[in-house]
Amino acid sequence: MADKPHLNLVIIGHIDHGKSTMMGALLIQTGAVSEREARELEKIAKEYDRDTWSYAYVFDRLKEERQRGITIDLAFRKFETESKYFTIIDAPGHRDFVKNMITGASQADAAILVVSGKKGEMEVGLAANGQTREHAYLAQTLGVKQMVVAINKADVWDYDEKRYKECVDAVSALLKNIGFKVSDIPFVPVSGLKGENLTKPSDKFPWYDGPTLIEAIDKFTLPEKPLDKPLRIPIQDAYRIKGTGVVPVGRVETGVLKKGDNIIIEPGGFTGEIRSIEMHHEEIPKAEPGDNVGFSIRGLNMEDVHRGDVLSHPDSPCTVINPSGNWTGQIIVIWHPTAVAQGYTPVIHAHTAQIAAKFIQLNKKLDQKTSAVIEDNPKFIKKNEAAIVTLSPIKKLCLEKYEDIPELGRFAIRDMGRTVAVGIVKDIKTGA
Ligand code: GTP
Ligand code: MG
Repeated sequence: MADKPHLNLVIIGHIDHGKSTMMGALLIQTGAVSEREARELEKIAKEYDRDTWSYAYVFDRLKEERQRGITIDLAFRKFETESKYFTIIDAPGHRDFVKNMITGASQADAAILVVSGKKGEMEVGLAANGQTREHAYLAQTLGVKQMVVAINKADVWDYDEKRYKECVDAVSALLKNIGFKVSDIPFVPVSGLKGENLTKPSDKFPWYDGPTLIEAIDKFTLPEKPLDKPLRIPIQDAYRIKGTGVVPVGRVETGVLKKGDNIIIEPGGFTGEIRSIEMHHEEIPKAEPGDNVGFSIRGLNMEDVHRGDVLSHPDSPCTVINPSGNWTGQIIVIWHPTAVAQGYTPVIHAHTAQIAAKFIQLNKKLDQKTSAVIEDNPKFIKKNEAAIVTLSPIKKLCLEKYEDIPELGRFAIRDMGRTVAVGIVKDIKTGA
């Protein structure tokens, strides 16, 4: 497995559209999940009186997930295609757990957007408050560049070409609007529950001559590694490990981290030397973009490192915005019960950071498609409107200009458990 190139693949889409079921079935068909494990899951599903959920149980492993029949937390599993090996990140569709979906998508190189073609379900997902829409926007913002769309539950829509086309048209329109290049996105009709068109062409779709799901994901290209950029590792978490000390973990976004390097952890400013780097429980001499690693640093304490911090080299440290500073961003409002106005202080999600920030200025309202200025200094920005705005964080926040380091130059704005807007960083005034 280790010889093949690796990709992180996140599975996204509206609740109950069949993400976990489809990926569970795919893993069983490829043998990544053994027959024995599959039979055990069937038995457990029967015990919960949820016979048809056994495939989903490949990913849904928490008791609460199995009882309620929903995904809550991210689940990771490895699996390989002909040319690559993948870490599958199964995300929850439930709107209460979008935070977890964001964490999953922020680690992903590519996504499968699962859309149930069942009458009514496709429509609900695409509606203004649907998670097909919300997840697609977030995937774009979080830098997921490649996507496959699976039009699922074909057994329910009778493998009907007309319904398939309806779904493809509706989803294409959304993705195009968001800024995806739709001509590069394969659409694949499947039934996860019946296992159709996942790993073998299905005779249920005589009208379809495109790839199976596994062929479609095998064609994802490897992202170019931004090796020449300055080092940036957003911290996901930190653990205290006996005998080793405090071990922060994170994914290298840009640059290269080597054993022995001097580093700085912002915004706290801790400096130290990398003692060792570990990936998949093995020590490695250096880490490159895309690698999920843990590292030990001489003298590091738990107070020195937090989720949302960024590790870089002291000679090219990441940009830190102080509460006296601000950044200007271009945003698109996805949802708001009324309108966004000056003074509004929602939570910003950027890489692994989550921090409240205040809208200190609404600079311009833009035409969403052409970016032409429609209005200067607008009083409000409403749903589906694009704007240039200035925000100030209530605590220090690591961010970069999108044009310098896109990986750290995107953000989502969330409030009341929903995504309000997504955006990119145009300019930064660090303050202080
Ligand atoms: P969340 O993770 O909670 O967002 O849901 P999910 O998208 O992972 O959906 P899940 O796989 O849990 O399936 C939801 C329901 O849809 C279950 O009852 C499945 O049995 C059913 N289902 C999933 N795929 C199919 C399918 O292809 N055909 C039919 N008929 N039902 C399906
Ligand atoms: Mg699920």
